[in-house]
Amino acid sequence: PPLENVLNMHDFEVIAKAVIPEKAWAYYSSASDDEITIRENRTAVWFRPRILRDVSTVDWSTTILGQKSSLPLYISATALGKLGHPEGELTITRGAANHGVIQMIATLASCSFDDIIDAQSNNQTFFVQLYVNRDREITKRYVQHAEARGVKGLFITVDAPQLGRREKDMRMKQVDDSAGAEVQKGQDVKKDQGVARAISSFIDPSLSWKDIPWFRSITKMPIILKGIATAEDAILAYEAGVQGIVLSNHGGRQLDTARSGLEVLVEVVAALKARGYYPDPKFEIFVDGGVRRASDVLKAIALGAKAVGVGRAFLYAFCAYGQEGVERAIQIFRDEFEMNMRLLGARTIDDLCPEMVDAGALGQH
Ligand code: FNR
Repeated sequence: PPLENVLNMHDFEVIAKAVIPEKAWAYYSSASDDEITIRENRTAVWFRPRILRDVSTVDWSTTILGQKSSLPLYISATALGKLGHPEGELTITRGAANHGVIQMIATLASCSFDDIIDAQSNNQTFFVQLYVNRDREITKRYVQHAEARGVKGLFITVDAPQLGRREKDMRMKQVDDSAGAEVQKGQDVKKDQGVARAISSFIDPSLSWKDIPWFRSITKMPIILKGIATAEDAILAYEAGVQGIVLSNHGGRQLDTARSGLEVLVEVVAALKARGYYPDPKFEIFVDGGVRRASDVLKAIALGAKAVGVGRAFLYAFCAYGQEGVERAIQIFRDEFEMNMRLLGARTIDDLCPEMVDAGALGQH
């Protein structure tokens, strides 16, 4: 269908499913075990909108880790972009270029890290996602190269000592081990474990809190731990001196029946506040999982997140329409921010506050 007919992120998903290879769909859409967490990520949470606040102009721009962002969201790392589109992650880079939207580059991107950085224009901001290699020299080189190329944030994935069991993907019994080939070396893996497992065997399950000072010693980039799921670990992260955390269940792809980022956010903010750790401009809290509408983003920010990560929505947009799909997705989000902020009674991101969300419903199962 023509791109003008795409009205929301769900439309991209339907179209992507129809046009991409079955193997790509299995890898992208799959979640772990019984896929309960991925459903929970979309559970309705209610707003408490305010009225009569002169919302003739509204502004949804913000900063993320000190970098300007035209939207209060960033495009999160999703691996293997070429399974679904021949130009892979470059479609995101080119699509985000004219719109001031930040892209997080995946360790396991299909396009090489340098090709993505080289495709930029308009001084784009990039973050990088890190899977930590058993061979720390490889990781060190990758991180220091990213910093040298101007990347503004290191997101270390901490919820994947082993990849989740994604049965839809496993049933495809096909493997694409080209991803990240230049920087990562996997061990031999049986070819019937699905795309995800086959490419991820280099990830070090021994990673622990003790490693954080080492990361601090090899880079000046802000360090963010991606995949925090409890207040206890949020406190440890703060005390470890990192610059932020992403409350995430990896899009439902890791521990099934892990809670949604929004639920975790409520307990994390309360626990950090109780210790005087929140608010702290040097420690930013992000949330991801299930974001398909601007309203999802606004709820997380109202409850204390600095910004929100979006994975599959952009993945499906570029699979279906390449760069133009990415630009259309950004435009749709922009329109949704405008309308939702007006209806919510928030003129700027700073107007968003916890009272605008009925958080009492979170955590009630
Ligand atoms: C991911 N995600 C992910 N995260 C990460 O840290 N490293 C990775 O390589 C990947 N790869 C990846 C592939 C695919 C196909 C998906 C769908 C997701 C997780 C991603 O960064 C983010 O946490 C979730 O995608 C957020 O959920 P939504 O927006 O997809 O619902």
